[in-house]
Amino acid sequence: MEKEDVLILAIESSCDETASAVVKNGREVLSNIISSQIALHTVYGGVVPEIASRKHIEKINQVIEAALNEANVTLKDITAIAVTYGPGLVGALLVGVSTAKAISLASGIPLIGVHHIEGHINANYIENKELEPPYICLVVSGGHSHLVIVKDYGEYEILGKTRDDAAGEAFDKVARAIGLGYPGGPKIDKVSKEGNADAIHFPRAKVVDSVYDFSFSGLKSAVLNYLNSCEMKGIPVCQADVAASFQKAVVDVLAEHSMNAVEEHGLRKFAIAGGVASNTSLREAFIKECSARKIEFYCPSPIFCTDNAAMIGVAGYYEYLKGVRHGYDLNAVPNLRLGEKCE
Ligand code: KG4
Ligand code: ZN
Repeated sequence: MEKEDVLILAIESSCDETASAVVKNGREVLSNIISSQIALHTVYGGVVPEIASRKHIEKINQVIEAALNEANVTLKDITAIAVTYGPGLVGALLVGVSTAKAISLASGIPLIGVHHIEGHINANYIENKELEPPYICLVVSGGHSHLVIVKDYGEYEILGKTRDDAAGEAFDKVARAIGLGYPGGPKIDKVSKEGNADAIHFPRAKVVDSVYDFSFSGLKSAVLNYLNSCEMKGIPVCQADVAASFQKAVVDVLAEHSMNAVEEHGLRKFAIAGGVASNTSLREAFIKECSARKIEFYCPSPIFCTDNAAMIGVAGYYEYLKGVRHGYDLNAVPNLRLGEKCE
């Protein structure tokens, strides 16, 4: 390790993954430990906040220790501690924030609070060393769907967002309705490969007064109506066809809005981020759309799309360079908006 190297110890606990990572100079991931609680929540069909918080408490110290060990460093090598402080489940966030504050206080290592969505966007820097702002990014996760211009590191202009359900939320709800269970996104992705995406035409919603906003609740209702009408008519439902047709409706809307934004703003670089960005069909659609328009396309590997701490380490690094440091009054902010930061 060189003396001038900036090493960020990152902590992420906003939902159902307890994660820690060590990131060197913003773009090199030395370790990326993720303890997933998926199995624990599957029986309930979704994340149970209280259970998530309790599990984070159980796991967090082990996960941080594993991240330091795998990176072959100790706290003495760490320049700053970056932690997700919002948005997310308040109890879950508090575990990460309190742990980060405790380590910072005991060791004297500076503390930096990181915005979870900013983390998702920054995941693109890990494997694309040449990527620099400005570019357009589509962030699609379980709680958020945002189309943004990344103007500079940590500087965003929101072009559009969802008016109701997030893209991932729609995947999860439709998966439950067709009997696939939790977690819905990866299951719909898998089963869609066996289905016909043109079998059923589901609506592609447009938001009248904002061309870049999304709305997925109508699509979800259309799927539910389709299932009900099949049941009433005694027509058997083909799970794979419903999944593939629903997935295509989501991907079409995301791709159309994104490509319109890219064209209108004259930016030739486009990135995707968030859990839904790991969707096979979505990735294929964007590869095709971007290559047809000669736009550089960036996407993180699936492991850096879904929740992880490496992305928080990258975002933390750019905050560190800007001189951002937080005090021990840093609190969890469950509904923190992109572009809104605690001083
Ligand atoms: O970013 P993420 O891990 O957590 C949040 O910040 O919300 O995103 C989780 C969401 C879930 O709704 C999950 O169903 C969805 O991402 N997801 C997927 C896929 N993998 C995860 N959606 C579609 N296809 C996938 N392969
Ligand atoms: Zn996330």
